[in-house]
Amino acid sequence: MKKIVMFASGNGSNVENIIRYFKNNSNVSVVGIFSNNQHAKVLERGKNHGILSESFTKTELNNDLFLKKIEDLNPDLIILAGFLLKFPDAILNAFPNKVINIHPALLPKYGGKGMYGNHVHQAILENKEAETGITIHFVNENYDEGELILQQKISIKDCTTFEEIAAKVHELEHEHFPAVIEKLLTHSI
Ligand code: GAR
Repeated sequence: MKKIVMFASGNGSNVENIIRYFKNNSNVSVVGIFSNNQHAKVLERGKNHGILSESFTKTELNNDLFLKKIEDLNPDLIILAGFLLKFPDAILNAFPNKVINIHPALLPKYGGKGMYGNHVHQAILENKEAETGITIHFVNENYDEGELILQQKISIKDCTTFEEIAAKVHELEHEHFPAVIEKLLTHSI
C-alpha cells in the first residue's frame, strides 16, 4: 500500500480530483490532508471522504511536532496542490525526492514568491502570452525551482479574462496530476 499526504491552502479542486482518482485503487491511500487555512474548502472536501484533514499555523508547520506527525503517517509521496506557504526544509530533508508541487504556468516563467493562483494568470493575460501550461516538479528549498517532472502547454489565444485562463489550466492539471502521481508511486517515471 502506497500512502500519500497532501497540502493545500484553498479550494482544493486538485486534491478532490486526486482523492477520486485513487478512491477505488486498493494500492494507494490518501492518509492526510493539511492546510494552513482553517477555513479552506479543501479540509471540508477531505472530511467528506473520511480522510484525516487538519489545519496548522505557520509556527506549527515549522515545529518538530509537526514533522513527527508527518513521519508517523509515513507517506511515500507528499503532494503540494495549491499550497501557498514555503515548505519547511526539515520535512524536505526527512523526505528526499518525495515532495512534489504543481505550478499553474510553464516554469521558470511566472514562478517564485508571490506567483501563485490567479496572480499567475493575471500576469500571463497582461503580457498577452499566446500559451501557458502546468509544471509538476520536485520541491527543493527555493520556490518553484526543483527538478522538473512534467510540463504541458495549452494555447490561450482565445482567452480574454484571467478566469478563462485559470479554467483551462485547472482542466489541464486535473487531466495530468493524478497520472503523474500514480507513475511516481510505481516508479515508472
Ligand atoms: C492550482 O492551479 C495550482 O497549480 C496553484 O493553485 C491552484 C489551486 O487550485 N498552485 C500555485 O499557484 C502554487 N504556486 P485548487 O485549490 O483548485 O486545486
